[in-house]
Amino acid sequence: MIDRLTLHNYKAFRDAALPLGPLTLLTGLNSSGKSSVLQAIALLRQSYEAGDLAVSDCLPEARRAGMTVSVANQGFLLNGELVGLGTGEDVLHEDFTEDEARIALAVDEGPYHYGWTVEYDPEQNLLPLLDADLPLTSEGPDAPTGSEGVSPSFFTAPFQYLHADRISPAEFYPRDHHAAIGRGFLGVRGEHTVNFLRDQARNPVPEGPLRHPRAASDLLLDQAAAWMGELCPGVDIQADAIEGADAVRLSYGFQGTLGATRRRRPSNVGFGLTYVLPIVVACLTARPGSLVLLENPEAHLHPQGQTRMAALAAGAAAQGAQVIMETHSDHVINGVRLAVKRGRLAPSQVVLHYFRGDGTGVDFVSPQVDTDGMLDQWPEGFFDELENTLDQLIG
Ligand SMILES: Nc1ncnc2c1ncn2[C@@H]1O[C@H](COP(=O)(O)OP(=O)(O)OP(=O)(O)O)[C@@H](O)[C@H]1O
Ligand SMILES: [Mg+2]
Repeated sequence: MIDRLTLHNYKAFRDAALPLGPLTLLTGLNSSGKSSVLQAIALLRQSYEAGDLAVSDCLPEARRAGMTVSVANQGFLLNGELVGLGTGEDVLHEDFTEDEARIALAVDEGPYHYGWTVEYDPEQNLLPLLDADLPLTSEGPDAPTGSEGVSPSFFTAPFQYLHADRISPAEFYPRDHHAAIGRGFLGVRGEHTVNFLRDQARNPVPEGPLRHPRAASDLLLDQAAAWMGELCPGVDIQADAIEGADAVRLSYGFQGTLGATRRRRPSNVGFGLTYVLPIVVACLTARPGSLVLLENPEAHLHPQGQTRMAALAAGAAAQGAQVIMETHSDHVINGVRLAVKRGRLAPSQVVLHYFRGDGTGVDFVSPQVDTDGMLDQWPEGFFDELENTLDQLIG
């Protein structure tokens, strides 16, 4: 698990060290740096997956011996499958202070610190690596070293990253074997979710906090339908291959109150169900060691649905995954608080950050949750709008 993310001269952050937990909530004003935090993690993973951070494990040994090691063709890959950040000019913090501009990112996983510093080049989208501060491989039997070099576990752990801008209801979805089945990746817009569900439909959700008690079975498709039923009672989902085409189809059925007997296309059942499907699947398939990054999981959900989705995300964290989510929803925050009060997560497993960009940089405060789900502070502007408006209405 990533315990801390450190950012230097990166986008809105001149210097920040952000503690992260099993379930981290990033809240705050628009344009205050929340997505940039998720993007920093994705940037590291993207660079590693492209082979651009596969720094040999001889590097720390060489550093210890005072030697210089060439790290040519290594660095931060700014544009790729997970994020498209532009060029160095876009990413370097505008008000950097050093004579020579450098961008650095670091993560701490337990006792291990991993840091990378890259050179600034305004026009390139691969920023060359200048230095890597990695654990020494000879530190002990559990030292994090592998055939591909010294790297944090989140580089190779099961990973999902869902952007705020996700798939909308459509006739067909792509049938990409490599992403959905080979790598189990839902896509940053959730575009591979339907194909993934088609393939994994009969895989069980393990016993524990993710299993929905009223699902028809413990199989993924029924479990996903049961969680979707929290938004729209009685819904069921189906994912089918389309004969002779590289596409898959999603359909919904409704029992009970809506009285429908025919299956419905996504475009005829509203927006919220399809929009949240990747979130539900990402959480349900998160396993111990997985990393799940979610931007605005609440989008297009009614308030109660938002609280229930937060319970599902809390379940993923309780199951052992690390979930980091950006949210503007007090219902999501309250869903997490309830999960703590109900004993599904320990207070120490929840990390809450409230970002306040003041035009000159980013500042954040971190209210703490107690065992009753209460917060130790309510900074001004932190989900206080309901109270502010009510005061004006009744004042
Ligand atoms: N190179 C840079 N130097 C300084 N600030 C930057 C740089 N690049 C982006 N920013 C600032 O970072 C902020 C963008 O933050 P981010 O995209 O993380 O927003 P957010 O908090 O996720 O917003 P939202 O709630 O709307 O999703 C903006 O204020 C932008 O001006
Ligand atoms: Mg954002």
